[in-house]
Amino acid sequence: MTRALFLGTDVSTTGAKALLIDEAGGVVASATTPLPLSTPRPLWSEQDPRDWWDGIVASIRRALADAGATGDEVKAVGMTGQMHGLTLLDAKGGVLRPAILWNDQRTSAQCDEIHTKVGLERFIQITGNKALTGFTAPKILWVREHEPEVYARAAQVLLPKDYIRYRLTGEYGTDKAGAAGTVLFDLKARDWSPEVLAALEIPAAWLPETREGPEVTSVISQAAAELTGLKAGTPVVGGGGDQAAGAVGVGAVIPGIVSLVLGTSGVVFASTSEPFIEPEGRLHAFCHSVPNTWHLMGVMLSAAGSLQWFRDTLAPNLSFDELTARAAVIPAGAEGLLFLPYLTGERTPYPDPVARAGFVGLTLRHGKDAMARAVLEGVAFGLRDSMELMKQSGLGQITQVRVAGGGAKSALWRQILADVMDSELVTVNTTEGAAYGAAVLAGVGAGTWANVPEACAAVVKVVDRVTPQPTQVATYEMLYPLYRGLYPALKPTFDGTAA
Ligand code: XUL
Repeated sequence: MTRALFLGTDVSTTGAKALLIDEAGGVVASATTPLPLSTPRPLWSEQDPRDWWDGIVASIRRALADAGATGDEVKAVGMTGQMHGLTLLDAKGGVLRPAILWNDQRTSAQCDEIHTKVGLERFIQITGNKALTGFTAPKILWVREHEPEVYARAAQVLLPKDYIRYRLTGEYGTDKAGAAGTVLFDLKARDWSPEVLAALEIPAAWLPETREGPEVTSVISQAAAELTGLKAGTPVVGGGGDQAAGAVGVGAVIPGIVSLVLGTSGVVFASTSEPFIEPEGRLHAFCHSVPNTWHLMGVMLSAAGSLQWFRDTLAPNLSFDELTARAAVIPAGAEGLLFLPYLTGERTPYPDPVARAGFVGLTLRHGKDAMARAVLEGVAFGLRDSMELMKQSGLGQITQVRVAGGGAKSALWRQILADVMDSELVTVNTTEGAAYGAAVLAGVGAGTWANVPEACAAVVKVVDRVTPQPTQVATYEMLYPLYRGLYPALKPTFDGTAA
């Protein structure tokens, strides 16, 4: 009897990954090919879509080989990847220019233009969000204004993971979670917004058909089968952007369960059974990869990235374990030292590219260890900001917070988060992130599990719990309002230094 395997592919900013799981949700093989990133000008961030494709082909071949699997054992493919990236193709499917990525900051003027053309309030009502520099829509306007010769040849707009779908199947398509992240999408209707497209004069014909996360969009082509080792005709499901697929991967698929990801960026993600919108657009409101489910999301741009910067800059000879062991000896609150984590500007709760980081409250007594502790605490306060916005937006009871990502490996950081949020935190057995979620969506599409919540209940298990410690909670309750006061107080300074 042959095995039934499901493949998840993930084009992240740093690597092209292929992950194989079996029908019990066990990881059978995982392969990642590193990807180059190009920053040709300040604020720009680009990648060549052909590098994504070459990386995914290499990773699929390696994963199949490591699993000792044949293509016909793979029953379905799900895809995920970095969100919001603009991939522009011509009428023959050729790549017109490097993809403009989620962390590219060149489009401030185009964001303003979108708000003026559609009306800010109306735009938030339809799409659930403000236009932010990282999102796809302002990038299309930027190309129209700055590279008219490229724009004139454009015929198709794809997200990064959907370029992989196109190369694997020969067909254009996308999923509703990823499509919502373009902000050309009607959040309630779960489809492209004719009103926004018309106001921005973007041809609807450039956008692919949208499907739900576990729905089949197309099948592996003969050409892709020959290159990858997969079997021609294998179904490919919609999948989702990395945040939605990552939430599936840790089982944050029903209201009440919140996922908190402590990667380079930090994300607080909550499923909702209706499209909740934060009236000022400070939280992202997108569709989930779970059919007829939505989500709210707060994104902090430098979470574990803040600790990485601190270690690289001020403690290059210490490992992360050594650094956090030293920080653990410092009492909660680091003797009044606060860290503001806006090293790369911020998205939530302040969508502000010129916000800056800082230590406030330094004294002669503070050394590296206390500063490291302040970094861990500052990131936790910033993530609490997103959690507070979620509570205010009418989201019901939060019953469990599931923490994942590289930073969550630190027991100290998990404890600080539990204390700052005054909430129990759990970790789960599934640690392969978005690619795992994409593979689970493929399994649902193939009929192995009846639906996404059922799949998650079968494969995702809680393995560890951290409970808040009352004395630390009290300390952080005192400090949080002081942290909250820093951004408004320093905003004129940030604007001045940016100017
Ligand atoms: C989410 C976001 C990032 C990217 C990169 O809004 O911009 O998570 O998807 O991974």
